[in-house]
Amino acid sequence: MKLILLGPPGAGKGTQCKRIVDKYGMGHLSSGDILRAERKANSELGQKAQSYMDSGALVPDDLIIDMMIAAIKKAPSGYVLDGFPRTVVQGEGLDAALEKAGEKIDAIVNLQVPDEPIMDRMTGRRSCPECGAVYHVVNLKPKADGQCDAGCGALTQRKDDTPEVVSYRLKTYHEQTAAVVGYYQGKGNTILDIDANQDIDKVTASVLGKLDALNG
Ligand code: AP5
Repeated sequence: MKLILLGPPGAGKGTQCKRIVDKYGMGHLSSGDILRAERKANSELGQKAQSYMDSGALVPDDLIIDMMIAAIKKAPSGYVLDGFPRTVVQGEGLDAALEKAGEKIDAIVNLQVPDEPIMDRMTGRRSCPECGAVYHVVNLKPKADGQCDAGCGALTQRKDDTPEVVSYRLKTYHEQTAAVVGYYQGKGNTILDIDANQDIDKVTASVLGKLDALNG
């Protein structure tokens, strides 16, 4: 299966992608995770992306499109795209590459959440810098306070999860990313709208239920 997961920052894209991948076994291609790995490796791409990410702005389209098309080529049997495409230009770049390869996206999962709960979700998020597991200080607690359940060590807070940067990321989402849903609607793609303003397990049940129905 080839899926795109759309939604504002903090919608639960990473959280739900992990559960989708656990069930269906495709690759999880997160543009944010790939960029953070590039930064950790101090690559040229990571250095170029740093200032954009720290301020909550989008990394330029040409860098992102090349990076994600390369990742897609390494996952021929299926994937869920998390955080990409994030502009209509990125959507067009993705579609052109898929068309060239004779492939298509099966469905777009659209996580819908109003702005109000986002700040609490983001400022309470804790992540494992080793395995990438995502927790929340209230909504999804690790078994031992501040420690990854997989035994990797201490959890950390992302630098872009401060209230100021979260506000800017939300503004960026409304100005540049929200239009991506309309772009895919206009192209006639299958869009699965999900109420993601509910308990994490309920969101998962809704997502997996719709994906099961899609698979027949
Ligand atoms: P990225 O890492 O993609 O950040 P994001 O899209 O802003 O999304 P997040 O990862 O912050 O949130 P999420 O939706 O995955 O939520 P999560 O599951 O963690 O991008 C970071 C930066 O990289 C961007 O700002 C940009 O600079 C750059 N970038 C990335 N892709 C790019 C692109 N395509 N183009 C240009 N630039 C790009 O959940 C959040 C928290 O909420 C967790 O603590 C979780 O436990 C909790 N939670 C989840 N679901 C629920 C629920 N239903 N109820 C209560 N709590 C919940």
